Amino acid sequence: MPLRLSAALVPLIFAGAAFALPGTQSTDVMKRLRLMTQIRDTSTTLGSMARGETTFDADHAGRLASKLRADVAAIPIHFEFQVIDAGSRARPLIWADWSGFEEAAARTEAAAAALRTDTPEQLGAGIKVLEQSCQNCHRRYRLAD
Ligand code: HEC
Repeated sequence: MPLRLSAALVPLIFAGAAFALPGTQSTDVMKRLRLMTQIRDTSTTLGSMARGETTFDADHAGRLASKLRADVAAIPIHFEFQVIDAGSRARPLIWADWSGFEEAAARTEAAAAALRTDTPEQLGAGIKVLEQSCQNCHRRYRLAD
């Protein structure tokens, strides 16, 4: 596994903790669930805008897309250490196949980079590709529901 910035350097904020699943005791697991929850919330907000469920605002969408890009880029460092606890659905395969995991993360990074936020149509098409890339990683590296 390549050496990266330690996830220990990523600040952990104990706020309204939707990510603190029952059984989650490890700080590493909490940090990565918090990151994933944040990523999900941002892409859900963008998806609602694209579908016209909320008002489309290109500036706001652009800012959210930037935030999403930064969060997605931080996925690999959040899995640097092999830690799994009772609240975690991470598969050990992540660490047995680290380069495959990094590749899956890179595909999501590329999808986030390709997001266009000028019109709801562009945004909707980009979010669809993004969501497929999330599922692609989850199917292989996360335990099913
Ligand atoms: C490179 C792999 C990878 C990518 C890409 C990825 N995830 Fe995840 N995600 C995981 C793993 C592994 C877990 C389980 C972590 C744990 O439980 O310790 C997870 C957990 C989550 C969770 C936490 C709750 C749950 O159901 O386990 C959410 C929400 C989530 N991901 C959303 C997303 C979204 C949305 C995207 C795409 C924008 C995404 N993820 C992209 C690997 C990935």
